[in-house]
Amino acid sequence: MGLCSSLLLLYLVLVCFVNDVLSGRTSSFTRSEWPSTDIPLDNEAFVVPEGYNAPQQVHITQGDYDGKAVLISWVTESEPGTSEVWYGTVGHEFEHKAEGKNTNYTFYNYKSGYIHHCLVDGLEYNTKYYYRIGTGAAAREFWFQTPPEIDPDAPYIFGIIGDLGQTFNSLSTLKHYMQTGGQTVLFVGDLSYADRYEYNDGVRWDSWGRLIEKSAAYQPWIWTAGNHDIDFRPDLGEVSTFKPYMHRFATPYVASKSSSPLWYAVRRASAHIIVLSSYSPFVKYTPQWYWLRGELKRVNREKTPWLIVLMHVPLYNSNEAHYMEGEAMRAVFESWFVHYKVDIVFAGHVHAYERSYRVSNINYNITSGNRYPVPDKSAPVYITVGDGGNQEGLAARFSKLQPDYSAYREASYGHSTLELKNRTHALYHWNRNDDGKHVPTDHIIFHNQYWASNRRRRSLKKHRKFPGHASLIAKYEEELFPVLA
Ligand SMILES: [Fe+2]
Repeated sequence: MGLCSSLLLLYLVLVCFVNDVLSGRTSSFTRSEWPSTDIPLDNEAFVVPEGYNAPQQVHITQGDYDGKAVLISWVTESEPGTSEVWYGTVGHEFEHKAEGKNTNYTFYNYKSGYIHHCLVDGLEYNTKYYYRIGTGAAAREFWFQTPPEIDPDAPYIFGIIGDLGQTFNSLSTLKHYMQTGGQTVLFVGDLSYADRYEYNDGVRWDSWGRLIEKSAAYQPWIWTAGNHDIDFRPDLGEVSTFKPYMHRFATPYVASKSSSPLWYAVRRASAHIIVLSSYSPFVKYTPQWYWLRGELKRVNREKTPWLIVLMHVPLYNSNEAHYMEGEAMRAVFESWFVHYKVDIVFAGHVHAYERSYRVSNINYNITSGNRYPVPDKSAPVYITVGDGGNQEGLAARFSKLQPDYSAYREASYGHSTLELKNRTHALYHWNRNDDGKHVPTDHIIFHNQYWASNRRRRSLKKHRKFPGHASLIAKYEEELFPVLA
């Protein structure tokens, strides 16, 4: 390499360093393609499957702690019908049967269909299963792929979607996600926005179920509850909380010793995923607080190196929308996230995208200590991806001065993907919906918070547990920063 090219390379490295490390970026891109109105109910996006009492709104989620079970859910409109799932590993041949249950609910003047939940367990890892639900001519067939066995180097691709709603922007987000090869969705709350309708119209919960079926019938969506899922309407006599949400979206909370479907954990491939509820008590001595304290102790980074937390309200957010709303939970849980070296905290709620640097604000105790978030290598990266495309539109007003903790922010619609490559590295993208095309925008290589420590890296090298390490990193960096290659 000549002197000129060496100097050019050095310059580019320095420019990247300055851009990426010393200051954040606020993107000026704010365009949205479609108006923020919901798709009409008679649109094909909400098509009702043919046949009497045909299963609709089919969706699956992980059914146990370690990924050897799925919970399959669907709705039948006219009568309960059967809650059986027939399944097997050969297409159209369904040799096994699981028996589920059905339920329904009323919400003011809305009466739901029959909501079926069926646990299919004892599955093999890394296997494609076909399943059939419903009966006769109205029976429907789908498939899903089980994850690899829990293993620190098991590669896996997660999609992250939040605040989806049911506009054409929502549909665009969903379709773009489906092109990515993502294997499981981490959904960070605010599903249907049915509560934007008079009497929180349950019909819009049904249409949302049909909208997401094209993805959610074939791969697990890991559910987190948001404020639009609370459905608290004492004026209508509806005084319980999360009634439609909890009837429709089952979670495997018992498997992680949780006492509520609203907070729980699953392990999948090389990830330990913890789901929290921003709208349930979380202060000291509450059930959620006790549960999280115990669950963090159960995390074994030797088996699942990637520790990911999902919640609805972001703890770090420099948008004017929902500013400071995560502060109470931050005060309670942030020190644990730092202590346990959480890799990433994903949240939604704010209808824009924002990624933080690794920062913490745990030294301030009201009377002393630094009052500002400071760089902290043990802290998670906080990512807000509440930009799924719902009818409330974008949160376009960020604080004028971008805070030091904020690395990238942009008010447009999109979703994220997180590709876990092995125990040390993951590739992350935020993908903006740009005029109907899938446009990767923000990206970063994550170094695992547990295995990136010098001592563990040396130990890995010594034991040659990971021989392809150096060449793999070079390949990612070439892919991400082609200008340097
Ligand atoms: Fe929200």
